[in-house]
Parts: sequence; C-alpha cells; structure tokens
Amino acid sequence: MKYIIVLMAALFLSCNASEEQRETRAVSPNGTIKVNFDVSEAGQPYYTVTRNDKVVIDTSYLGFEFKNATAFDKNFSVKNSESKTHNETWQMPWGEQLDVVNHYNEFRVMLQENVAPKRLLNIVFKVYDDGIGFRYEFPEQEQLSEVEITEEHTQFNLTEDYKTFWIPGDWDIYEHLYSTTKLSEINAIAYSNHVNLAQTYIPENAVNTPVTMVGNYGLHLSFHEAALVDYSGMTLKVDPDNLNLESHLVGSKNNDYKVKRALPFHTPWRTIQITDNAPDLITSNLIVNLNESNVLGDVSWFKPMKYTGVWWEMHLGKSSWDYGLEMVDGTWTDTGKAHGRHGATTENVKRFIDFSAKNNIKGVLVEGWNTGWERWIGFEDREGVFDFVTTYPDYDLDEVVRYGNEKGVEIIMHHETSAATETYTKQQDAAFALMQKHGIHTVKTGYVGKILPKGEYHHGQYMVNHYNNTVEKAAKYEVAINAHEPIKPTGLRRTYPNTISREGLRGQEFNAWADDGGNPPEHLPIVAFTRMLAGPIDFTPGIFNIKFDEFKKENQVNTTLAQQLALYVVIYSPVQMAADLVEHYEANPEPFQFIKDVGVDWQTTKVLNGEVGEYVTIARQERETGNWFLGSITDENSRSFEVDFSFLDDNQEYTATIYKDGQDAHWDKNPLALDIETITLTNTSTLTLNLAEGGGVAMSIIKNNK
Ligand code: NOJ
Ligand code: CA
Repeated sequence: MKYIIVLMAALFLSCNASEEQRETRAVSPNGTIKVNFDVSEAGQPYYTVTRNDKVVIDTSYLGFEFKNATAFDKNFSVKNSESKTHNETWQMPWGEQLDVVNHYNEFRVMLQENVAPKRLLNIVFKVYDDGIGFRYEFPEQEQLSEVEITEEHTQFNLTEDYKTFWIPGDWDIYEHLYSTTKLSEINAIAYSNHVNLAQTYIPENAVNTPVTMVGNYGLHLSFHEAALVDYSGMTLKVDPDNLNLESHLVGSKNNDYKVKRALPFHTPWRTIQITDNAPDLITSNLIVNLNESNVLGDVSWFKPMKYTGVWWEMHLGKSSWDYGLEMVDGTWTDTGKAHGRHGATTENVKRFIDFSAKNNIKGVLVEGWNTGWERWIGFEDREGVFDFVTTYPDYDLDEVVRYGNEKGVEIIMHHETSAATETYTKQQDAAFALMQKHGIHTVKTGYVGKILPKGEYHHGQYMVNHYNNTVEKAAKYEVAINAHEPIKPTGLRRTYPNTISREGLRGQEFNAWADDGGNPPEHLPIVAFTRMLAGPIDFTPGIFNIKFDEFKKENQVNTTLAQQLALYVVIYSPVQMAADLVEHYEANPEPFQFIKDVGVDWQTTKVLNGEVGEYVTIARQERETGNWFLGSITDENSRSFEVDFSFLDDNQEYTATIYKDGQDAHWDKNPLALDIETITLTNTSTLTLNLAEGGGVAMSIIKNNK
C-alpha cells in the first residue's frame, strides 16, 4: 500500500503564556469553526466552539475524578501553549474513497496546578472545517505515575434544544432502535431490559455515540470519539434541563474505577462533527483523520468482497447452528442425538460456493461449523465451551477450502465467542494459525451474551483492550476482523486496516426474529447519519423474500425490494453480504443482477441529498473500473428527487440500469413491486427518482466502451 504525503506543513509557535495572555484558540482552515480555551477564576479548564461566529458549544468545563488522587477540577493555570497547522493527503487501502485530506489547525495547552502537588495536564484541540477533536494528555511527571479514573467530566454545553437521533447509553450493546426526540426529551432509561437483547445495561439517562442532532437553523452536529485505545467507551449523560451533555464512561463491577492507566498516556479524541447540512456529515472524514496512520503496511492480502453464507437460514429457523452433540467427560460427543437440521454441512457450503462463483461473489461465510453451539446462548458457564479448531462431524474444512479455491471463492471464518473472552484469547493463536494454513483471511467474530469474566461490560476498558488486542494479533496471521457485538468503531481502521467492518447496531437479523416488528423503515435513513459516521457496517442487506411467511409469519423486512438493493451503495462496508437464501436469488435473477454488478471498493463517494432520518442518496465510483453505483433510500414516506449526474466523466457515455420501486410499491403492502429500466447517461443528464414508502432506487452506471 502506498502512503503519499502530498503536502505537510507544520508550524510550531510556542509562547510562554503570562497570566494576562493565557487564552488559547484556533480557527479551522477555512475560518468557519473557532475553538477558544481558557481556565475559570477557580482554575477549571473550559472551552467554547463557534461556527460562523454563532455559539455551538457554550462554556463547557473539562476535568477528571480519580480514585487514587484528588480531582482535576480546579487550580489549573496555563503554563505554555503551542500551535501548528497540518495538511496532508493520505490514501485508504480500501474504503469509501481513495484520497483523504487531513487539514487542521491545532493547539496544545500545557496546564499545571498552582497548588501542591502541582500536577500537569495537557489538552490538545484539532480544529477542522467539518468539526473538532480534542483529547487529554497526561504527561510523564514525578507527582503522578498512575491514575485510576472514576469519571471523566467533559462537557458539551449546547445552546438550543436540538432534534436528536439517539440510542440509549447501554454499556453492553448498541442494538437498539434509534429514537428521535428533542434533546430535552431524551429518556434512555425507558429502554432498559429489551427482551430481544442477550445483554443490556443502561445505568443513566445517557446516550451512546455517534449521537446526531439537527438544529432549528440547519446546524448539524454529531458527537463521538476517535482512536478508542486502552480506555473505556464514552456515553454522554444528558442534562435535559440545561441542554448539556457530559461524558459518562463505561465501568466494570470488578473495579471501583473506570479506567486505569500508567502515565504518560492520552485519552481518545472527543469529537464533534459540525456541518450545515446532512450530506456533509457522511463525507466528513474527521473520525478516521484523528487516528494514527497505518502501522500494518501492506494489507493487500485482504480484498474487499461481496459474500454469501450459511447465516440467514439459521436466523429464519430453516437450519440450526448446532448439530446435536452432547458434552461427555469434557468432550463434545455424538451420542446419537443429531437432529439433522445442522446448516454448516460440507454439501450446503459447496452449494453456496457454486452459487457465489457463478455470480461475482468472492466469499462464503460459514456459521455453526465448530463444536459448542449446543451451549452458547443463555448459559452461565460458557468458558471452554466453544473451540475454534474442532469441526462438527458433517463439515470438512479442508474439502470446502479446496473446493472454494478451485472456484475462486474464499471461506469466511466464524468465531462466535459467546463473550467467553478468556477462552477466545487463549485459543487465538491456534485459531488464526488454522486460518492462515487454509489461506483464509477474514473472520467474523461474535460476542453474544454477558461478558465473561463476570462484571465486565462490552464497552468497558477490559473489552476495548480485548477487541483491539484481537485485531493486532489477527494482523500477525494476515487475518481481517469483522466483529459483531463489538466496541463502536472509532476510526482505528486507519491504523489497523485489518479492522474491516463490524456490527454495533440493530442489523438485518432483527427482522428475522425480533418481537417488536423488526427495524422500521426509518431505521437505515437514521443509521446513515449516526452509526455510519463512525465506520463500516456489516448490516447484511439483500433480502429478496421480504415476507418469508413460509418460515416466520410474524416477521418481515420493512423495506421494499428496491431499497434492499440500494443498501449495497448507501450502507458502506468493504465486506457486503448477499444475505438471502440461494433459492431466493435463483428465483429472481433480474434484481439479483444488481448485486452481481455492484462494487465494494470505492474511488470516491458523493452524497447527493439527504435529511437525517428521512432519506439519503449516495453515488460511489468503483476503484479500477471507474463505474458508478447509486443508492437512494427513504423512510415510511414516498419521495421524488431530481438527481443530476454532473459527477460523471466528461465525454463519456454510460449505460445505467435503474432498479426502482414499481407501481404501488410499499414496504408493507407491496414490497416486491420492482421496475428495471436501462437508459444512457452522460454528465449532462438529470433524472427524477421516485421512491415508494419504505422504498429505494439502485442504479449501476457502467461506462460504454469508446
Ligand atoms: C449475532 C450476530 O450478530 C449474528 O450475525 C450471528 O449470526 C449470531 N450472533 C451467531 O454468532
Ligand atoms: Ca448482533
């Protein structure tokens, strides 16, 4: 992989701030966003943010509480400060675009307590045109060698009662539906104890990030964090009366602190994306830009791909993950109880390989291939149950790998840990070595259930380290990770580009079994402007048999078929599943053609329109071919938009195939109505797209040979 520093300008200005001239500030490169920092009379650090001179974040205090030391909440003065400008262009090895501009103005304030023990704290602000990031640095100092942080107090003091798109600040899972309320009306506690969640814990009226807000005068904000390493995840506690958010870190029942670190260290970046329209939130690269550059070097062993798999059939109840073994004297044994419904058989996987090979799909995920599934969910004692090398009797790993190689299709490994982290950590070397031996470069991991060791949560420091250590270890075996029930993405894919995708939201699977009606039509038009701002999503689109009544009468997908196609473009992931059953695709070759054609790795991305929670239209240009693909989705309201194709190349004709909602299409009443039309397009063309309720449009826009 090539990393080209196109332009790098660094200017250091260092000044010894006197008492009189201690204020510190920076302005974004185009002058729109300004950050001011100061300390109060009592010596408490605070900052403010403006955009076009309008206050976005009013006086917001910063500080920490510790178990082993007095709090960082007063008595600070600015001892020194420095500023710099940075402008580089770096390249994504895979991604939504090739070139990423990273241009910001930065300042660092060095604070010291003016009373004993005169401890030190630095705060760094990076100010971009699309938002800000800041973090705390705990420099090496004799006065303090280790901190046990009981709480971080980072405030975001808002100036209006924003329309807010939020999920509760659950310490254990992000798989909640989004709520849309005024900031002052957030009530996260109401979402405690969701019956469809194998683990959930919401201790406060707090939200998880990214949380996105739209103001009365069109300001768009999204709060999140970047580079979450060796720290716990941050939720944001809501003070509805004062329109204030404040960091509330995820804790652990095993410690009376939330984060323990030896000095020197720095926290993750606290981020605010700030734009004046919804599409610019999606094209903002603030989160990845705030991460360190690639430390893995060439990761070309991982290729973005579409994949099928032994997956949806289990969620529908057509087959099962488990085989029907019994544990006898510590060994999973065939005692004659096999039920014959096991999905991951050699034969079934070969069927997926054959289908994929014929249809330009390079991967097949196989879930339920290894022993242990008889005891994975709802059991307290899960350590030692799964292993990641022992296959069920009817699955021949050597043979499916051999067969796949012959057909140019790679097996995607699956490691459901059932959140038994010690078992997984112990086995990772053996598990990744097995993959390497077979030339398997991608694994989907899973963490269903309460974390073992007991008392830890999915989003606390213990698990942040577990997820990150797994990525680092996997890289040594040329393995890329697609984590389910993960920690939220914070842009670490820049540093570790084997971090390819993850879940971390209510995925398609909920449509198969949730007893709350599944994901409503507004779900993905919200996700595109919330969870998707953080990083790639393994949503697993492409369900054609929308109602699947032959499997589940009570459940269905709540979109039209056209929207399922549009999701391949709208919801970004470098691994994109064609999730439905082979027979459902074989019965519908015309719409399936889009999945066959659509790209998975992009040169550039254009967000053509969008409003948070309502609709969004995205066009992406495929790397290498230069072909374009467009996806447009809407919530429960029908829409018409005029799209202009001025982004296409000059003097080039394209053949566009349009997959659109048919006459009377409707996500519930008529989801399968689909029209397919082929036209010629150039960069002077315009087109009206009509989307049905819960509908969409997908387009492949392929260059004509000259
Ligand atoms: C939950 C994951 O989200 C899903 O994709 C997977 O099939 C199951 N866990 C089993 O690992
Ligand atoms: Ca899940």
